[in-house]
Amino acid sequence: MRDVASSTADDHRPPGSHSHAQQVLFTRQTKLFLRGLGTVRRQIWSSFGEVFGEVFGEVFAGFEESFGVAEFCGIAMAAVRDAALKISMTALQRNVIPDVLLRWGVRKLLEGRLREITRPTLEAQMQELISFVQSLKQMPIAVNTEDANAQHYEVPTEFYQLVLGKRLKYSSAYFPQKNSSLDEAEEAMFALYAERAQLKDGQSVLDVGCGWGSLSMYIAEKYPNSKVTGVSNSETQKAFITEECSKRGLSNVTIVTCDINVFNIENTFDRILSIEMFEHMKNYEKLLKKISSWLKPDGLLFVHIFVHKSIPYHFEDQGEDDWMSRNFFTGGTMPSNGLLLYFQDDVSIVNQWFVNGTHYALTSEAWLVKMDAQIKVIRPIFAKAYGEGEVTKWVANWRTFFIAVAEMFAYRNGEEWGVGHYLFKKK
Ligand SMILES: C[S@@+](CC[C@H](N)C(=O)[O-])C[C@H]1O[C@@H](n2cnc3c(N)ncnc32)[C@H](O)[C@@H]1O
Repeated sequence: MRDVASSTADDHRPPGSHSHAQQVLFTRQTKLFLRGLGTVRRQIWSSFGEVFGEVFGEVFAGFEESFGVAEFCGIAMAAVRDAALKISMTALQRNVIPDVLLRWGVRKLLEGRLREITRPTLEAQMQELISFVQSLKQMPIAVNTEDANAQHYEVPTEFYQLVLGKRLKYSSAYFPQKNSSLDEAEEAMFALYAERAQLKDGQSVLDVGCGWGSLSMYIAEKYPNSKVTGVSNSETQKAFITEECSKRGLSNVTIVTCDINVFNIENTFDRILSIEMFEHMKNYEKLLKKISSWLKPDGLLFVHIFVHKSIPYHFEDQGEDDWMSRNFFTGGTMPSNGLLLYFQDDVSIVNQWFVNGTHYALTSEAWLVKMDAQIKVIRPIFAKAYGEGEVTKWVANWRTFFIAVAEMFAYRNGEEWGVGHYLFKKK
């Protein structure tokens, strides 16, 4: 509130009449708004310009080479498709696509993905599934580990502190009600893990792919006599958890930084939990063999992975429309709900649950809302992490990532993609 001394003659004008200062401010705001509009318009036109120059060149080169009308039409259609893709990608990176359009585009890509992975007969689908399982067995435990690390896990922790819930759970939460808060939903998912993995105080626990310590610190807090070891391949995650544990007086947590391809440990554990790390893996046979060697004879392994209901696939960067594979999930796998059951040489299944995808959709929507609300603080963090000139592109990338996750898990009311929970015992 202004004090009396600072009031001016303007304060005594009748309501609705504009002071000189107000008019100047109004003109300045209008100019800024028009300048903003101009920038957006120029960005769109320059995207069109760049792309069409290239495309028409390709079309006419195709015409010269082919002379046949049918071939020419084929080339023209492909060129138009490429042009549309390039325009969309350029517009995406410049952050000028409205969210409704983006969401519609994601749903179209999901439809395309389902068409691409669905075979015309059950027989063919089954053959494909079995050869997928066989091919995983020929691969290393994880591939492209450096890419995935750079894409997610070495991004400054401050960013995750701003967008994730209170416990920094970077995986699906569980919404008891649609309007539960993200923090409540994080707690609800941890309670579900505790029940399903049969956690008790005093157990030794290994958290494989521990992220920013959400589960490790939850267990250490709830079960003070338990000893928790967390492992991940990210240095920044370890630094954060170690500092947080000393702030919270948690002396029962140890964090190890190591790529799971080469990680090994002498100790054995009562419980091993892994939350959304298996999606970064390929060879589940080797991985489960390793993990089972870290279980006590009566120990249990609990795994939480996101899944497609029946068809597994690789995230492969085959072109610009494989946006997710290229920017966020290089080397990743979309397991199917039953995939892990093909790898029971060293563990056997005790129980299995499916968590409807809408829980993940609500989680990612909540991350997006928090990102948008704090964009002013996030931009300088991105400037430091990615460089000044890359901020807009990465704001767009992260927003698109959260939107894509939300749309994918909301697809067909969460019955197409969701989360699988598995409880295994050592063989
Ligand atoms: C999606 S995050 C989940 C984090 C945590 N479990 C949570 O729910 O908040 C996946 C975790 O797996 C780890 N990770 C991915 N690939 C890995 C690898 N090859 N070796 C070790 N950790 C890996 C990442 O660093 C990250 O901590």
